[in-house]
Order: sequence, then C-alpha cells, then structure tokens
Amino acid sequence: MSHDISISSQTKAEIYKELLPQITQLVADENDLTANMANMAAALKTAFGFLWVGFYMAKAGQLVLGPFQGPVACTRIAFTKGVCGASFSSGNTVIVPDVAQFPGHIACSSASKSEIVIPIFENNTVVGVLDVDSDQLSDFDKTDQHYLEQICTLLFEK
Ligand code: SME
Repeated sequence: MSHDISISSQTKAEIYKELLPQITQLVADENDLTANMANMAAALKTAFGFLWVGFYMAKAGQLVLGPFQGPVACTRIAFTKGVCGASFSSGNTVIVPDVAQFPGHIACSSASKSEIVIPIFENNTVVGVLDVDSDQLSDFDKTDQHYLEQICTLLFEK
C-alpha cells in the first residue's frame, strides 16, 4: 500500500490543510513514538522542503536528538539553552525570524536563518519539542504555529 504524501496546493495554509489529514492518517494505526516522529519529519520535509525538521526529546535531564530530516545536528541541548530550550522550558511555541538576533541560538547548521520550535505535551507535561529550520529569513508565522501545534498533538493525544 502506498503512503506517499500528496500536495497540490501552493499557499502555506492550503498545503497545511492538505497535509494535516495525511499525517493524521499516517500515525493513526501506529503506536510507536519513534516511527510516528520519523514519518512526521519526513512528511513536513516533503511538503515544504524546509532545511531541517526534527525532534528533541527530554531524556535524563537534557533534550536529545530524535528523528529528523536534514543536515546532521547537535545531539544534546540543555533544557534552557537555545530556541529549543526556550520553547521546552516555557511550554510555548517560539518563532525566531532571524536566528542571528536570538541570544543563545544554537547554530547546528550555518545555513539556518529562521526557526520555529513547538513544545510537545504528554498528559499536560512538556516532553520534547519539534524544531523546524529554514534557510530563508522570517519563514515562519502564526499559520505554521497553528498547524504545527496541531500536528504535535497527534503524537500523544490521538
Ligand atoms: N537552533 C536550535 C538547535 C537545534 S538545530 O537548529 C537543529 C536551537 O537554538 O535550539
């Protein structure tokens, strides 16, 4: 059976509207967290061509690299460091239009220009983050936040 991601829209909001039910379907019958994170990263990379899409999950007091698509990345981030730490420790989505202007930004790739990080909740506790990087400045906005937050809920709340 084919699981190809199919996108025909052009605008960001329309692409997310097409993508959301496909990701929902992808994870619907699979209970393995790693498998679902891997397919989510692949689906987002396929649909948008982002520079980097991936997960950092809390393990033994640090955020540890999980499934991702894109260039190799830092494997461990302290809970309060970087954009990922800011999102994890606050429980809020963080949008950074220009990573060069974000104090403490961790540059895993020199090509990254803007970034959005979404906290992932399990039973109302933050357990990790979804990090998306772009090689364009100001690539992320409320539309990304709206849909990526919905996508993240599919990991533990489906
Ligand atoms: N830029 C992130 C680190 C992770 S990489 O971008 C993949 C940060 O500042 O937390």
